[in-house]
Amino acid sequence: MTIQSTADIRGLQRIGQIVAATVTAMKAAMKPGMTTAELDKIGRRVLESYGARPAPEFFYGYPGATCISINEEVAHAIPGKRIIRAGDLVNIDVSAELDGYVADTGASFPVGEASPLIHALCAATQEALCASIAVAKAGNRMAEVQEAIDGVAQKHGFTVIRNLSGHGIGRHLHEAPNHVPDFARGKDQRRFQKGSVLTIEPFLSTGPRIAQETSDGWTLVTKPGHFTAQYEHTLIITDGEALIIT
Ligand code: CO
Ligand code: CO
Repeated sequence: MTIQSTADIRGLQRIGQIVAATVTAMKAAMKPGMTTAELDKIGRRVLESYGARPAPEFFYGYPGATCISINEEVAHAIPGKRIIRAGDLVNIDVSAELDGYVADTGASFPVGEASPLIHALCAATQEALCASIAVAKAGNRMAEVQEAIDGVAQKHGFTVIRNLSGHGIGRHLHEAPNHVPDFARGKDQRRFQKGSVLTIEPFLSTGPRIAQETSDGWTLVTKPGHFTAQYEHTLIITDGEALIIT
């Protein structure tokens, strides 16, 4: 969506705070031995306590309230019997709707004593998110976000997953512009528009470049033994620094 009024900004900030608070609460509750279904239930309760509706379920009929992806899982893994173990890398991605506004945020967390590789991957992916938000300004080319992500990944020796990207958001979970940035497009010539609401969410991996769909129709994976981290914010594009609402 494109911002039309201060009411739009306030509505987005409200749901942005709720999804951010949900990730924080889930991270705090996460313990080795817990199943992803149990952790999802905690997230659902937090969202419901604010009257917010889980967006993947609301818009797409996804079987869960939040997306919890472990190790070789990249995104959209269905909450279930999988047990969270010490040393795992867990991604929690929460999107929700309240009063017609939608926001989306995600973060990856090492569980317990995770390996230095996992810590380095998380730090690099956070750096990629910061570097890409810094160039998400009205008038800038979306390719600058791509260059920022690629540059940080290369500097740290990690790989960028090329078939997952940010997206327009605000009234629906996924709106135009699609694929922010569009890695398949090569040099993405589209420019950021003032007032545009979108997500940026780099996925960095320990090698694989493509996330593949599994037979459950939701879960995206790379290869066993590999790890992917993702960090995501929803933001409003301005002439200056983007307004981060999550
Ligand atoms: Co997300
Ligand atoms: Co997203």
